[in-house]
Amino acid sequence: MTEKIFDRKQKLTRLIQFGVEVSQIADLDLLLEKVLTEARRMLNADAGSIYIRDGENLKFSYSQNDTMQEKLGKDKKLIYTTFSVPIDNNSIAGFVANNGKTVNIPDAYKISKALPFHFDSSFDQKVGYKTTSMLTIPMKNNRGEIIGVLQLINAHDQHNKVVPFKDDDEPIVQHFALYAANAIERAQMTRMTIMRMISMAELRDPKETGPHVNRVAAYAVEIYEAYAKKKGIAQDKIDSHRDALRLAAMLHDVGKVAISDLILKKPGRFNDEEYELMKLHTIHGAFLFNDARSEFDEYSAEVALNHHERWDGNGYPGHVDINTAKPLKGFAEKNGKARGKKGEEIPLFGRIVALADVYDALSCRRVYKEAWDEEKVINLIKEECGKHFDPEIVDVFFDIIDVIHSISQRYPDDH
Ligand code: C2E
Ligand code: SIN
Ligand code: SIN
Ligand code: SIN
Ligand code: FE
Ligand code: FE
Repeated sequence: MTEKIFDRKQKLTRLIQFGVEVSQIADLDLLLEKVLTEARRMLNADAGSIYIRDGENLKFSYSQNDTMQEKLGKDKKLIYTTFSVPIDNNSIAGFVANNGKTVNIPDAYKISKALPFHFDSSFDQKVGYKTTSMLTIPMKNNRGEIIGVLQLINAHDQHNKVVPFKDDDEPIVQHFALYAANAIERAQMTRMTIMRMISMAELRDPKETGPHVNRVAAYAVEIYEAYAKKKGIAQDKIDSHRDALRLAAMLHDVGKVAISDLILKKPGRFNDEEYELMKLHTIHGAFLFNDARSEFDEYSAEVALNHHERWDGNGYPGHVDINTAKPLKGFAEKNGKARGKKGEEIPLFGRIVALADVYDALSCRRVYKEAWDEEKVINLIKEECGKHFDPEIVDVFFDIIDVIHSISQRYPDDH
């Protein structure tokens, strides 16, 4: 860590800036990342985690670790597994959520036996890290409800030596946690509202839809980020598209709203006629966002319309007018259908969601098909590289396959 230790005035300035910045972020994942990065920077902490409350449990939701990140290499994402701890006095995080109190531990391996909680060293052992100092703070919203816990690990001094967290840092981090809690709560509401909209509009198996929608969106965002980095696009530019892409990817199939349940829920395979009707979900979806007012509308229309195009030009709906579903002038083929979009005629986010959607559809059970094994799915993606999928996007997908797996673990199907 090369950054110098912030003095108090700088900390306050950062805090105010942080308040302004986070009030503009709607996306939960991006927000967790910002919150933790900023909290760690303020206290010069090597690592940290965020736990989000989920009923009577705390769900380990986000983590950073500079030491492990350095070992891994700058461009790779740190993979962490999610787990839950009960909100009770046995774990540190559980205790903090249970009592609403900050706990400042100088050495996790020397916690007094008189205290109710203990440190779980299995994480350290698994990854080869040494946790020493730990500052664990409850995140309370404006109503005083605990929405999660922020845990900072291994404060560093100017010489990068691990030191305890200072007591007089606690108030500033608590204030910080308040901002963070409110922003996180807002982002959670946004995501919940979207999920409700999707399941209401659908009136069909929400168990299939919820996790699928979250996974496809998370895959798409990660693929985009890795792709954009490879192309040398600046991080702040990437971040500015992430919110809108996630939302658009969540809504890729909203057009299914207009498709009859008889077709949508058919337990077996489609006949040709049924399939032709189903294909219209792309155009219906795009039509919903037709009068684009924001970046969100624009990307949502783009993804809905283009997520079933194929790189080789054999996808659907092709070059159509979304108001009439008819081929655009000059794009009608002999059979009356529109010519498929091909290669980079297909907008980037359409190409990305195409891969994310098929990977997920194949990996999971659907009313009309069983789940495939991972190996079979991977083989199909390799086989379709340059046919169904943009080869550059397939490359990126395999670069980040560990991240992809951690996402499918994070959003399991709930049946
Ligand atoms: P979805 O279930 O989200 O599937 C998305 C895409 O994943 C499919 O787009 C297809 O490209 C790929 N995919 C899914 N299952 C298979 C499979 O068994 N083999 C292969 N090679 N690819 C597969 P597609 O085909 O355009 O379908 C769009 C949507 O239409 C599907 O979304 C699903 O909701 C529905 N659908 C497609 N075929 C059938 C069917 O035979 N029966 C029923 N009930 N629904 C179907
Ligand atoms: C730091 O902890 O000093 C750096 C925080 C970051 O940007 O990752
Ligand atoms: C806890 O806060 O007790 C759980 C996480 C950890 O031990 O690192
Ligand atoms: C949706 O209709 O928005 C998602 C459902 C699906 O992709 O199966
Ligand atoms: Fe679709
Ligand atoms: Fe889908």
